[in-house]
Parts: sequence; C-alpha cells; structure tokens
Amino acid sequence: MSAAATRSAAAICTAASDRRSYALKDPSGKNAMSQPTSRTAEIRKVAKTGDGKAEQLLAELLRDLFRIEARNVAINHDQYSLNSLNGFFETEDGAFFFKFHQEEGEEAMSGEYYRADILARAGLPVDQPLLMSVIPGEQILVYRRRTDPRFSDVLRALDLKDDAAARGRAVEAERRLSEAVLKVYLATLHTVGAREVAAEPIHRLFYERLVDRSAASYPGGRMASFYVGKDFAFPNLTLDWETLSRCRFVVNGIEYSDSIGALFDAAHERLNPARLADAGGVVAHGDAHNANVWYEERDGGAHLSFFDPAFAGENIPALLAEVKTTFHNILAHPLWLYDPAMAAGRYKASAVLDGALLRVTTDFAPSPVRRALLDVKAEALWRPLLSELKARGMLPADWRRVIRLGLFLCPTLVMNLRAGATTHNAISSLIGFSVAVMAGSEPVAGDDLISRFIDTIDPDNG
Ligand SMILES: Nc1ncnc2c1ncn2[C@@H]1O[C@H](COP(=O)(O)OP(=O)(O)O)[C@@H](O)[C@H]1O
Ligand SMILES: [Mg+2]
Repeated sequence: MSAAATRSAAAICTAASDRRSYALKDPSGKNAMSQPTSRTAEIRKVAKTGDGKAEQLLAELLRDLFRIEARNVAINHDQYSLNSLNGFFETEDGAFFFKFHQEEGEEAMSGEYYRADILARAGLPVDQPLLMSVIPGEQILVYRRRTDPRFSDVLRALDLKDDAAARGRAVEAERRLSEAVLKVYLATLHTVGAREVAAEPIHRLFYERLVDRSAASYPGGRMASFYVGKDFAFPNLTLDWETLSRCRFVVNGIEYSDSIGALFDAAHERLNPARLADAGGVVAHGDAHNANVWYEERDGGAHLSFFDPAFAGENIPALLAEVKTTFHNILAHPLWLYDPAMAAGRYKASAVLDGALLRVTTDFAPSPVRRALLDVKAEALWRPLLSELKARGMLPADWRRVIRLGLFLCPTLVMNLRAGATTHNAISSLIGFSVAVMAGSEPVAGDDLISRFIDTIDPDNG
C-alpha cells in the first residue's frame, strides 16, 4: 500500500469512527431482506434502470453511515460478480471500492470483515475492509480501490497467448503463494469436531449446493434446479437426465468408473459436513479462485494476495481447503468454464452413446501455464500437506475420494453446465461434464492428467 493510500485509509477510518464502532457492535445480524425499508435493496432495484438514481442513493447512504462525501459513485456491471453489487467512489482521501452482497441467503457483511481478519491474523496476505456497516438493510463494506489485475486476468491472457517470461513470473508467484498457504495450513492444522466443521460457511460451496435449504432433501439446491429431470444437448446428441446421470463416460479412450449420478450421490454422502472432521481443520480462504486474487508486479517479481474471503474460516476441513483453487485456477481452463462461446470456437467435442457408455472425443487440453500451475500445486501444497496429515495419523484412507468429490462439485455446481441454460453451449457443456467426471472418478484403466496429479501427491508414492 502506498503511503498516500495508507494515509487516506487512516483518514477515512477516523472520520467515521463513531458510527463505525456503532455499526460493528450492532447485534441484530439480521439481513436486509427482513427489513421492509432496506436501503441496499432499493439501490439494487433502481440500479437496473441505470439513470443515476442508484448512485445518488449510494452517496447518501455513505454520508449517513460514515460521514463521508462520496463523489463519482459508479456501479460496476461485472460478469464475475454474481454475488455482490459493487462499484467505486472517490473522496478527498482517495479512491474506494464498495460492495454489498446479494441479500437472499448470503452471509451478513460482518462475516466478510471477520473472515478477512482470521486470514490476516494467520499471516496470509489479504485485503481488509476500511469501513463496514452491519446495520440491517444498510450493510456495506468499503475497501481501498485497487487498480491491479486479478490473477485470473493475467492467466487468461497467457492462455490466449503464451509468453515464456510472463508465464515464469506467474508460476513463480503461485509457488510463493502456495508455500505461504502451506505454512499456514501446517501451523494451524488441528483436530476438529463435527460441529465446528459444520459451522463453517465453506459448505455453501459444496454440500449445500446438493440439498435443499433445510438440508432435508437430496437432490435439492443447485443440483436439482440445474440438472434433475432436464435434457442435455451435446453436439449431435441429446440425453435426458436419467440417461446422462447413469451412463459412464469414456473420454478420448479412457473409461471412468463412476457415472455423474454416482458421483453426486457419493458427494452427498461423503462431503456432508458431519463427515469432514476426520482430516482435521485449518485456517483457509477456501474460495481462492484467481478472480479473488490480486497480481502485483514489483521488485522484479510478481506477488499475489487474496481478497473476498467470504468463505474463509478457522476450521476448514483440511482436504477441502485447496479444492476450489485447484479446480477453478487450473482444470477449468482454458476458456470452457468461464468463456464457453470462445471454447466452442476453439475446441472440438463430440459424443456417441454406446450402450451404457458415453464415448466422448475432444481436443480440449490445459494450456502450458495451467499444467505448470498444477505441478506447483502438487509439489508445493498438496503433497507436503498430505504427508503431514499422514505423519499425524490424520489422513483418512479414502482421501483420494474426498478430494475428487470436492473437485467434481466445483464445475458442476458453480454455474449450470447444461447447454442453453445460461452461458453454456453443446461443446462447452460436453467438455465441462467430461472434465468433471475426469476429476471425480478414477479411470477404470490407464491414466490421465488428474490421476497422475493424484498419484504425485500420494504420500505413499516414492
Ligand atoms: N478493492 C478493490 N478495488 C477495485 N476493484 C475491486 C476491489 N475488490 C474487488 N474488486 C472488483 O470487484 C469484483 C467483485 O469483488 P469481490 O470482492 O470478489 O465480490 P464478489 O465475488 O462477492 O462479487 C472483483 O472481481 C474485482 O474485479
Ligand atoms: Mg469474488
């Protein structure tokens, strides 16, 4: 942080300190939807009209909450920000970023503040909010505005046009971040109870996407609404859910043991929070996909740091902590998960149903930078983490299964992979389901990128 930015941070905090401490102490923790007069809900509503009214209401909200005069308030319309309304403003002290979460079902903003603090105290590099209000209906967080690229932006550029020197810097930055994260995992690894594990918000990214809100019915949640009972259009072939969920994939000649339906069932059973205490807990960000990571070049090298720690915690199941990162930063690329239209122009994929087997042929393959990142993740993080778990007698016999099931839920339940449902098309959908099965299931015979990765991190292998 520059000296100027540090000064402005201090200035803005001081200016708002009375109100801020009141906001921090607000005990209700209710979310804004429970308030008929929610100011953030109103702003969200009028923001859709784009006539400047929302910006004016935001400036008034910031004045009332923090006693700051916000100028040039701008609301972002960002494809990656599915969960929050956010934007920028300026004051005489500098430029700032604000956000408020989608109000239905998302944790109160105090969660993000508290969770950033957990990571910072453990020694991880993470942006912390300068201002926060947890007043029901007026929940908002304010950060210093960054102009750095996200690591996702840097890597996407390398996917599209490889550059050995830039790739080297990026991979080295990832190695240093992985080493720092490993240190924290090893220092914070502790035995945990099922109740502590269950209290972590990280399950919203995994188990809770398989079940209804009450957790009573499976399939529920995103799994049911995205897939169950639906039709799936692939190039030259449309399958119903019954057929797709039961068939087994053969991808470029490699046959997989588990069907999609079997993998969802196994995830529902094994990733139940009540079953995840067996490998201990660690302090982790938990959702450190690279659109939540800043990339800064300085002193001849590149440095990474986290933001958006809404799912971070102190009792994150050790085998789940790095799963999102591994899938979203590596196996989801290039292009197919986040830029399906570009994937369709760049890759081929076709399928035929052969009895109970779905035979897929595709030329999709991870780019050089993604393969290098997978190697780094294996060497600098997973292998030493699993070795330590084993040394402490905390590595469950089915650790491969747990990691694979977590990886499987990443692509299937983050966005709807069904062609035509949102952004996916027949080609990206087929690539997506194939990569999901590769991640989730062992091959019947032979090996692939993911089985080789799992072999590399096995503490029993050489
Ligand atoms: N401090 C900041 N300065 C500038 N832009 C930011 C800042 N924090 C986040 N952003 C931008 O806003 C986007 C969404 O922010 P994030 O905190 O990840 O919210 P969410 O993922 O909950 O929508 C980020 O991907 C990034 O582009
Ligand atoms: Mg984010």
